[in-house]
Amino acid sequence: MIMSSGFCSARNWLGFVFLLLTICSLLSPAAAVKRENFKTCDQSGFCKRNRAYADTVAASSSWTSPYRLERGTIKFGDGILTGAVYKKLSGSEENIKLPLTITFYESGTARVSIDEEKRQKGQIELRHDSKARKERYNEAEKWAIVGGTSLSTGAAINKESAKGTTLVVYGPGSKFEAIITHNPFGIEFKRDGETQIKFNDRGLLNVEHWRRKVDKPPVESSTSSSEDSSDGGKASETPAAAEADKDAGEDESTWWEESFGGNTDGKARGPEAMALDIDFPGYEHVYGIAEHAGPLSLKETRGGQDKYSDPYRLYNSDVFEYEMDSPMTLYGAIPFMQAQKKDSTVGVFWLNAAETWIDITKATSIVNPLSLGVLGKTTTQTHWISEAGLLDVFVFLGPTPQDVIGAYADLTGYTALPQQFAIAYHQCRWNYVTDTDVRDVDRKFDKHHIPYDVIWLDIEYTDGKKYFTWDPLTFGDPAGMLKQLDEHGRKLVAIIDPHIKNEGGYNVVDEMKSKDLAVKNKDGSIYEGWCWPGSSHWVDCFSPAARKWWASLFQYAKFKGSSTNLHIWNDMNEPSVFNGPETTMPKDNLHYGNWEHRDVHNIYGHSLINATYEGLLARDKAEEKRNVRPFILTRSFYSGSQRYAAMWTGDNLAEWSHLEASIPMTLSMGISGYPFAGADVGGFFGNPDKELLTRWYQAGIFYPFFRAHAHIDTRRREPYLAGEPYTEIIAKAIRLRYSLLPAWYTAFHEASVTGAPIIRPNYYVFPGDEKGFAIDDQLYVGNTGLLAKPVTKADTKHATIYLADKEKYYDYFDFWTYEGPGEVHLNAPLDTIPLLMQGGHIIPRRDRPRRSSGLMKFDPFTLVIVLGHAGDAEGTLYLDDGESFDYNEGGFLHRKFSYRSATASLTSEDLGSPGKKTKEYLKQMERVRVEKIIVVGAPAAWKNLKEVGITEEESNGQSAAGAVRNAPLEFHAPVEGRAAFAVVRNPAVRIGAGWKINFA
Ligand code: NOJ
Repeated sequence: MIMSSGFCSARNWLGFVFLLLTICSLLSPAAAVKRENFKTCDQSGFCKRNRAYADTVAASSSWTSPYRLERGTIKFGDGILTGAVYKKLSGSEENIKLPLTITFYESGTARVSIDEEKRQKGQIELRHDSKARKERYNEAEKWAIVGGTSLSTGAAINKESAKGTTLVVYGPGSKFEAIITHNPFGIEFKRDGETQIKFNDRGLLNVEHWRRKVDKPPVESSTSSSEDSSDGGKASETPAAAEADKDAGEDESTWWEESFGGNTDGKARGPEAMALDIDFPGYEHVYGIAEHAGPLSLKETRGGQDKYSDPYRLYNSDVFEYEMDSPMTLYGAIPFMQAQKKDSTVGVFWLNAAETWIDITKATSIVNPLSLGVLGKTTTQTHWISEAGLLDVFVFLGPTPQDVIGAYADLTGYTALPQQFAIAYHQCRWNYVTDTDVRDVDRKFDKHHIPYDVIWLDIEYTDGKKYFTWDPLTFGDPAGMLKQLDEHGRKLVAIIDPHIKNEGGYNVVDEMKSKDLAVKNKDGSIYEGWCWPGSSHWVDCFSPAARKWWASLFQYAKFKGSSTNLHIWNDMNEPSVFNGPETTMPKDNLHYGNWEHRDVHNIYGHSLINATYEGLLARDKAEEKRNVRPFILTRSFYSGSQRYAAMWTGDNLAEWSHLEASIPMTLSMGISGYPFAGADVGGFFGNPDKELLTRWYQAGIFYPFFRAHAHIDTRRREPYLAGEPYTEIIAKAIRLRYSLLPAWYTAFHEASVTGAPIIRPNYYVFPGDEKGFAIDDQLYVGNTGLLAKPVTKADTKHATIYLADKEKYYDYFDFWTYEGPGEVHLNAPLDTIPLLMQGGHIIPRRDRPRRSSGLMKFDPFTLVIVLGHAGDAEGTLYLDDGESFDYNEGGFLHRKFSYRSATASLTSEDLGSPGKKTKEYLKQMERVRVEKIIVVGAPAAWKNLKEVGITEEESNGQSAAGAVRNAPLEFHAPVEGRAAFAVVRNPAVRIGAGWKINFA
C-alpha cells in the first residue's frame, strides 16, 4: 500500500529515511490519530501553569486576584475608557503596569484590551541570539478586523457608580452596562439590568509579565508528566528566575524553553501567557471556538465522567485521521464563542493568534438551602489561556443569535459571495493522474447524467511537487484539458501549498530566496523543513512584499498552462511541517517584522489565502479584464478567512462516525461566521462501503461546500462507479442540490450581507426553545424553511426529526404532513432523504437537470409555496451573473415572494436597490420566467378553481398595466396523510419583474 502512493514511488525516492517514514506514515491510512504527536495541556507549559493557577484559586477560601485598576488613572472620552491595571507581585511591593483600554463601538460591541507597558531598556533581555521583537504581538487585528469599529457616541460614564466601580452605559437604547470593579479588577456586562457576562469574577486573570532571566541554582522541575518533561531539566541547566520569590509557587520549568517530541522551543521573551475567566451566568450552552470534532453545544473540560479532560485547544495543526468527540485542535481557529439561554444569546471574541486553550465548566446553583437540592441556574464558566500576545476581547450582548453573529461578522467581515459554480458539486481525489484521466472523468459524468461543476487536481499534477508547474509526462496538455472543461461550463481547481521545494533552478524558490521572502529561523537564517516536496522553505505572507510576490505567481504568464477556469486550493497551510514540532513550524521561527511564529501561528494560513486571493483578483483583472470572484479552498483559517475562501474539515475517515460528526462541525462553522464549509464526501481515508458512500452524498448535498475527495490509496469512487441502485440514488441527491441552487445561492447572499449561517442549527432558528439547544444532527437551509436530517448511521430505515414550533411541516418529496412541536418519525430507507418543508415559506428552485450549474443560468424557475397554519408564506430569491462583482453596481435581482391568504394572492416585489448595472442585468434576465408554481397545503376551496389570474408589470419596470391573463391550475386533493397541493403551469411571469397572481 505504501509503495502504491505517488510520493513513495521510486521516482520520488529521496533516500532520506526520516522523510520516508514521516510521509509514508501520513500517506498510509492507519487506525487513528497519532495523539502522541500533539500536546496535552499538561505538556504545554503555559496551559499547565494556568490550569494550576485556576486550581490554586479554587482551592483557596481567601483568594483575591492581584489585579487592581488604579482609580486615578481612569479616563473616558469618545467611547474609549483607558486606565492602568496593576498586577501586584506576591511577596513584593512591586507592581507590573498593564495599560487597559475599553472601547465601546456604535454597534453595541465592547472591547477590552490589556497590554503590558513597554519594557524599559535593560528591563529584560531576550534569550538566545534571537532577533525576536520585544513587545507583545499586537497585529492580530490587522488580519482579522475589517469593520464595525465606529466609536460609540452615546456611551457614557454613569456618575452614580457604586463605590469602587466605574459604570459605563452604552449600546442600542443605552440598554447595556459595563460595571468595572477596581480592586480586584473585574468587569460585569449587563443587558436590561441583568448580568450576562463576567470577566475575572473567579480571579483567574493572569498576565505572565516579562521578567529578566537570571541564573540561579537549579530547581527541580515539576512540569509535565510527559516523556519530554526532561525539558524542565534543560531549563534548569540554565535556570532562572531571580524573581521566583515574587511569583512564589509558580512552575518555572518551561518559562525559558520547552521541549516536545524532540524539538526544543526557546522562548526568547520568557513566559508571557495571558489568561482570563469569562463566565456566562444563567447560560447553560456555549457554542463556537471552531474547529473541533465534537458536539455543537460544547462540553465541559474538567470534572470527570462524560467530560473532556483537556481544554479545547486552538493551535492550527495537521491532525490527520482526527479523533471524534474531542477537544483536540484541528486545522483552523475561530476564537469566537456564543452562550445561549432561553431567548438570549451573548458572546465573546478572543482576538489572539497564539496557541490558545479554553476550559469550560458548568456550575449549577442550589436555589436555596431549604429547597432540598432543587437546582437553580447554571453558569457556564470559561477559562481562556493564550501563550502570548495581548488580552483583547470583544463582548457581544445580543439578545439574538443573529445579533451576536452579525456583530462578529461586522468586525471580521462577511463571507465572500462565491461564484455560482462554487456552491455546486465538486469532484476531487488525490489524484486524477493525467490530463486524459480528467477528460475521461468529465465525459463519464455526462454519460451518466450526473451534474458536476468542478474537477480537482491534488499535488501529483505538479512537476516533482514544484507548485506552479505541471508534470510534463502526465499533464502535458493542461490547456486542452481546461478547454474541454470550459466547453461543458466546468472548472478546475489545482492545489498550491505554501511549502516551496528547496531545489536549485526552480524559479519560485530561487526568487523567494533572492527576495528574502521566506520564514526564518530564530537567528535570521532561512528556515528549512520537510513537506511533500522533501526539503522546503515556507513563504512568509506576513510580509507585504511576499504577499505581492506570491500574488504575482498566479498570473497566467507565470503559472503557464493555467486559464480563467482554473481556481486554487491552499492546503497544508497551518503550516504543516512533517519534521516540525506537532507537525508544524518551531514557535521561535521568525516572520516579517521579527514577530515570532508563536505570536502569529493561528493566522499563518489566513495570511496565505489573503495573498492568493489578491493574486487571483489581479490575475483576472489585469490580464483578462475580467472582474470575477476568486475561488479558493483553504484548510487552515482564522477569524476573517471567510472573506477569502471556503474551508473543509480536512482528513476525515470513511467511517459512519465521521459522517455523523460532519454535521455538527459544519453547523459550528456556520454559527462562527464561516459558513462556506463542508467535509470530504465519502471520507478521505479508507474505502466507504456503498451504503456509507450513498448516505454521505445525501448528507453532503447539505454542506454549503459540497465536494467528494479521497486519499491516494483509496479505490476510485466517482458516483457512476458505485453501480445500481447506488449510482442513481447518488445522482438524484446531486440533482436535488442543483435544483435547489437558487435557494442555496440566496442563503449565500444573505450570509454575505448579514453574516447569517447558511445551514442553521435549531438554537439559531428557535432561540426560545430550550429543547433544541443541544440538537446538532438536523439543519435548516438558510431562511427557506427546508429542514434536513441527514442519515448518518448504517442500516437506517427511519429518521426522527425534532420540530420546535406549532407548525405544519411537509415531506419535501411526497407532501406527507407532520405537525410540530415535538418529534416526528419518517421513513428513511436508502433511497430517501429526510427533508421537510416548514409551513410559511416559498422556495425557489430550477427543475431542469443540466450537466453543470453554468448551463442553468437562463433556466426557468419553479416556486414552491408552502402554506402553514396561518395560510401565508414568504420567500426570497437573490440572483446575479454568478461570477463577477457586477452585483456591487446593482447587477442583480432580489425578489420577495409573498402569498397572502386574506387576498389569496401571490406577489413578487423588488428588494433590490438599483445601481449602474441593474438595467443591463434585468435585460439579460428578461426571458427567464417562472414555469411552475406548486402550492403545498392548498386550501380545499380550490378544488373547483381551474385557473389563476396574472397581472405583471411592464418590462420597463412600470407598474402592472392591469391586463389580466390566465394560467391553468390543477388541484390535487389530499391522500392518506399527504397534503393537498395545487400546480399552476407556466404562469410565465418574469423572475425579475413585479407581478401578482390571484388564486380566487
Ligand atoms: C492533505 C489534505 O488534507 C488532503 O485533502 C490532500 O489530499 C493531501 N494533503 C495531499 O495534498
